Amino acid sequence: MKQLLKTLDFTHFVVKEFVNAGDTVIDATAGNGYDTLFLAELVGERGKVFAFDIQQKAIQSTEGLLREQGLFPRVQLIRDGHEHIEEYVKEEVSAVMFNLGYLPGSDHRIVTQPETTIKGVKAALTMLSPGGVITLVVYTGHPGGQEEWPFIEHYVKSLAKNNYRVLLYKFLNTDKSPFMVAVEKR
Ligand SMILES: C[S@@+](CC[C@H](N)C(=O)[O-])C[C@H]1O[C@@H](n2cnc3c(N)ncnc32)[C@H](O)[C@@H]1O
Repeated sequence: MKQLLKTLDFTHFVVKEFVNAGDTVIDATAGNGYDTLFLAELVGERGKVFAFDIQQKAIQSTEGLLREQGLFPRVQLIRDGHEHIEEYVKEEVSAVMFNLGYLPGSDHRIVTQPETTIKGVKAALTMLSPGGVITLVVYTGHPGGQEEWPFIEHYVKSLAKNNYRVLLYKFLNTDKSPFMVAVEKR
């Protein structure tokens, strides 16, 4: 049966369009490593994935998953906030993925914060190559999630339309499901 893609699947569908083998890309919120793994597969053995997370548990889970899949050599894991990506990544990137909120199976009080998320997105935009994309998967069901979204919405809506195209992918008849913002750099 045909159905609209779930938000996470649609996010991968979008990112796939923008990433070529050999590219450098960033996972801004490594978490359990699923997006890092997805990106590592896309960039191939000549490519590079920088993956950030502030929690040691996330770094360990991501390392475990990538080692298990034999793709760890193309990944650099960094235990630091995505607001500092410019300190670590010195080359242009074709995609940056943010998956906001908390680490599933861990402390739900450790969540992404509006100020650092916006800083990370701003930094990501400066590092993005023309024809590159940033995706943000946004959750509003947890404490703090409702507050984070207006900051992001305000910021991405302010981006100059000659330089960026901004997309919202959102199911409108459900409160709970995550939604996605994609920012394409022209
Ligand atoms: C929803 S999870 C990410 C899920 C992940 N993309 C995956 O595929 O498993 C959100 C993650 O963001 C991390 N996080 C929170 N604030 C952060 C920050 N300032 N910089 C980087 N990561 C952060 C949390 O520790 C958590 O692991």
